[in-house]
Amino acid sequence: MANNIIIFDTTLRDGEQSPGMSMNLEEKLMVAEALDTMGVDVIEAGFAMASVGDFEAVREIAGKIKNSVVCSLARAKTADIERAAEALKPAKQSRIHTFISTSDIHLKYQFRMTKEEVLVIINDTVKLARNYTDNVEWSAMDATRSDRDYLCKAIETAIRAGATTVNIPDTVGYATPSDYGALIKYIADNVPNIDKAVISTHCQNDLGLATANSLAAIQNGARQIECTINGIGERAGNTALEEVVMAIKTRHDLFKFDCNIDTTHIMRLSRMVQSITGAHVQVNKAIVGANAFAHESGIHQDGMLKNASTYEIMTPESIGLTKSSLVLGKHSGRHAFRERIAELGFEVGDNAFEEAFHRFKELADKKKDIYDEDLITLLDNEAKGADPIALESLHITCGTIGPQTAMICLRINGEVHRVTVEGNGPVDATFNAITTLIPHSAKLKLYLVSAITQGTDAQAEVTVRLETPDGKIINGTGSSIDTVVASALAYINALCKLKTMQQRESLLPAAKA
Ligand code: KIV
Repeated sequence: MANNIIIFDTTLRDGEQSPGMSMNLEEKLMVAEALDTMGVDVIEAGFAMASVGDFEAVREIAGKIKNSVVCSLARAKTADIERAAEALKPAKQSRIHTFISTSDIHLKYQFRMTKEEVLVIINDTVKLARNYTDNVEWSAMDATRSDRDYLCKAIETAIRAGATTVNIPDTVGYATPSDYGALIKYIADNVPNIDKAVISTHCQNDLGLATANSLAAIQNGARQIECTINGIGERAGNTALEEVVMAIKTRHDLFKFDCNIDTTHIMRLSRMVQSITGAHVQVNKAIVGANAFAHESGIHQDGMLKNASTYEIMTPESIGLTKSSLVLGKHSGRHAFRERIAELGFEVGDNAFEEAFHRFKELADKKKDIYDEDLITLLDNEAKGADPIALESLHITCGTIGPQTAMICLRINGEVHRVTVEGNGPVDATFNAITTLIPHSAKLKLYLVSAITQGTDAQAEVTVRLETPDGKIINGTGSSIDTVVASALAYINALCKLKTMQQRESLLPAAKA
């Protein structure tokens, strides 16, 4: 049995479909390219049938990704499979991932089908998917609450019809490591044609056991793990990519497997997904939490000073975490800047380099010490591109003596617009001023501020989440050494995305009719 574990990332599908996590096309592309560079084997780019936006995202990602296999989810329906195949056409390597439930509970209450009917559907839909690609994954939704022998029959049917990967989802996060491991072993021992397919795991985290369950599965014969960055996903989330990968690498004595992930990219992806979605990980989150490598107690600090291996089972550098050491300042030149960003894993062309260097100098004029985190934010912002609405200036009056007012000047479609508006505090005044110039009917659902580095001159990173009257979610982000400016940038960013989304929707055939 091969010792390589296939890492299947579903941040852009299972992750993105969870509440508040929506990403726009540009953001999905950015994440997909970073996943590809990190060495993810399969990127589930979306669910092509779900919406025109999902279809476009899968198609764009399929056209851009160089190394990873690009995958689209599809229900066990002809239209879904055809739509997935269409979206995946530009891919160098594609996979269709089709699924149907196998548990009695789902068949009785949700699908209202007999077990025999489901077997026929599995056969027909997997065969249909195989007409489009040789790489077909079939999932048994709610596998962990399915009758084992029926599950084995369904898996055998899928493999006979041409499935090359069979996924055993713990859809409701019900399994524990011992029974999930035993289920995988049962499948490996009892499905007669199992040698013709890879067994895959997909573990939800409802009981906090997703990582443990995925690891138990590979010890019992599974060779693919489905996971997401920071463990985002339905309800309590999915298996965290960073946790399973670092467990495999750190406990190689127990998990004698390899995977293709360059772990030094983990931190960058974690920060990227946090910044795009506004879903910040808890400080004590394994691997990527702010405290994951912090040593507070005297005894631990003493040990660390003598030898880091006393209290550290993996190095911060192995996940791409650089100590918040001062790297650059306003006297740093192009050469130092170029070297440092290359060390941080950024490849930028000449024009993009000049633009980024200019922004770096602007930042260094305002902020004495520039840390790696500042550079990462700056380069990720450059990659996102400028908003079509620009913040020309913002002047705030605030403090103990009200009223708090915001005097704002925005450039909208090349024209400068100014307004002065009051509010309950500087951020409220700023948002009121922006809404006066860019009227909209979305509701503010989240306003979140965090500091990118330590110190009172740290840049603030702000996330703003809006909800449209028809329930669509848009996240905007902004960063600046001035928290109110960062807030204004985040709000403008969210409103620009809202306008782009509305323009795209107005071009759709259904909207025109
Ligand atoms: O949780 C689940 O069962 C799924 C499948 C579609 C893989 O997301």
